[in-house]
Amino acid sequence: MLVGGIRSFEMAGRLVDKGITDYVSQCRPRIREPNLINRLESGDLRKAACISDNGCFQPGMAGEGIYCVVE
Ligand SMILES: Cc1cc2nc3c(=O)[nH]c(=O)nc-3n(C[C@H](O)[C@H](O)[C@H](O)COP(=O)(O)O)c2cc1C
Ligand code: SF4
Repeated sequence: MLVGGIRSFEMAGRLVDKGITDYVSQCRPRIREPNLINRLESGDLRKAACISDNGCFQPGMAGEGIYCVVE
């Protein structure tokens, strides 16, 4: 299982097809787009909107829960 910086469906598929990993995990893309899997399943294969700036840690550290501060 692999996690870290995987932002596109195409990249995820390539990692599995090449045998680099059996499973792909994502964290920040799902914080920014909780509906991301449904979006991909609907055929909208644009890469994740998350810009990986780690802004979602700030409310978490302040005890306000984790959410995307860019969205
Ligand atoms: C807000 C936030 C909290 C996280 N908390 C943990 C944690 O408690 N333990 C952990 O092993 N990784 C934690 N991570 C790391 C993620 O599990 C993941 O490895 C990392 O974000 C890279 O994946 P991504 O590029 O898909 O976000 C956290 C990441 C974020 C953004
Ligand atoms: S705050 Fe930044 S890293 Fe966190 S989900 Fe939003 S865009 Fe991604």
